[in-house]
Amino acid sequence: MESHKRVKVSELLKREPGAEVLAKGWVRTKRGNKNISFVALNDGSTVKNIQIVFDMNSFSEESLKEVSTGACIAVKGELTASLGSGQSVEIQAKEVTVLGPADPDSYPLQKKGHSMEFLREIGHLRPRTNTFGCVFRIRHAMSFAIHKFFNDKGFFNLHTPIITASDAEGAGAMFQVTTLDMTNPPKKEDGTIDYSQDFFGKSANLTVSGQLEGELGALAMGEIYTFGPTFRAENSNTPRHLSEFWMIEPEMAFYEIKDNMDLAEEFIKYLVKYALENCMDDLQFLNDMFDKELIERLRSVVNTEFVRLPYTQGVEILMNSGQKFEYPVSWGTDLQSEHERYLVEKHFMKPVILTDYPKDIKAFYMKQNDDGKTVRAMDILFPKIGEIIGGSQREESLEKLESRIDELKMDRETLWWYIETRKYGSAPHSGFGLGFERLLLFVTGMANIRDVIPFPRAPKNAEF
Ligand code: 4AD
Ligand code: MG
Repeated sequence: MESHKRVKVSELLKREPGAEVLAKGWVRTKRGNKNISFVALNDGSTVKNIQIVFDMNSFSEESLKEVSTGACIAVKGELTASLGSGQSVEIQAKEVTVLGPADPDSYPLQKKGHSMEFLREIGHLRPRTNTFGCVFRIRHAMSFAIHKFFNDKGFFNLHTPIITASDAEGAGAMFQVTTLDMTNPPKKEDGTIDYSQDFFGKSANLTVSGQLEGELGALAMGEIYTFGPTFRAENSNTPRHLSEFWMIEPEMAFYEIKDNMDLAEEFIKYLVKYALENCMDDLQFLNDMFDKELIERLRSVVNTEFVRLPYTQGVEILMNSGQKFEYPVSWGTDLQSEHERYLVEKHFMKPVILTDYPKDIKAFYMKQNDDGKTVRAMDILFPKIGEIIGGSQREESLEKLESRIDELKMDRETLWWYIETRKYGSAPHSGFGLGFERLLLFVTGMANIRDVIPFPRAPKNAEF
């Protein structure tokens, strides 16, 4: 009989009334009187609840005592047309089992309207709230859409290592991976730590980017993308930085900077459109509860052509803006989020792709322009977020790459394998990195990046 198998709420709400069904989930609310009880049941498959109706002629008060907010229950009953507004069907309960009670005196999610800060402290339970259910379902949908976008285009998903011995961005903010005894590490004669005795025989760290290995893939398979966790040990306590975040890094042979920009713009629009077409219940909830302009903003991005502008012109706009910035801006300075957002939100009022940054504020691998001052970089700046994508055409000339590595006093030795790709069959190529949580900030309208990843990692924060 069908009623032996649990049916998800998302599925029940689509069904015609009639059959006997079995639902399982967590009680959101219970209300009623001596004659009838209504339970709103949620199982996480959708933001919507299914209403369970208990006729109190068939159930004793005692038998429903443990059916309280937060409890997990299994209910068997008939799916019937609902007279109440807001749902087409409900379940007329025949049997109920409490799988896991939740003590009403201590269950932390009794009331609605907890602060986001409080919910971060109960990361183990916050997925049971409507808000986080919506966010994590959208997160899943975006992850799926990313793979679909690239797969449909014939890109290959390349798994790049999480533990590496190189610093891809040359930024030096890495988490070290070691099995050495921290209280008594082996030392060399000069007093420095002897990493040849460490697990990998050299100093190793968690990756800050899969790009360098991604380039190896592109220079063999043509078009690849990575989608994995990345780690940065910067002490940045901002609503836009995590110590552990997920990044999508496509890398393409034979792409010049313009092809790279075209792909990035198409990619973001595809993802936003996918969310609008597949996550409307969740988006509507977030729109109503947090951000009344969310859906409107998403639609506008899908339908707007992004501005493309050289850094030099962007800086001129900022300098002539008459705006007082916390960090003053001039040619050569790295742009802060306040500058990026001014360009996007106040000046152009749409996403901006900023190109050709000064080489001194960008990574060693970017293709050098003929002016000797700038590199073929591209950052995509978004409303509310600032930088959402960073990318570039890559330096394919062996000579120029090596001289840049030397100029920056980086170590040619640890990058020997990367350098060799410029020696053997080098090709023009480009790529970019999309911060997955930055994308989710935009798509969900959440204000803090710690609220779009299930278990955020940030300075002084590794609970759950
Ligand atoms: O600009 P980034 O550092 O570029 C790279 O890592 C390149 N290797 C990408 C490439 O060309 N393949 O980082 C790329 C993106 C940023 O635009 C931002 O969206 C995100 O990653 N990001 C972070 N997201 C959350 N927390 C952090 N600490 C982040 N740092 C970068
Ligand atoms: Mg960047």
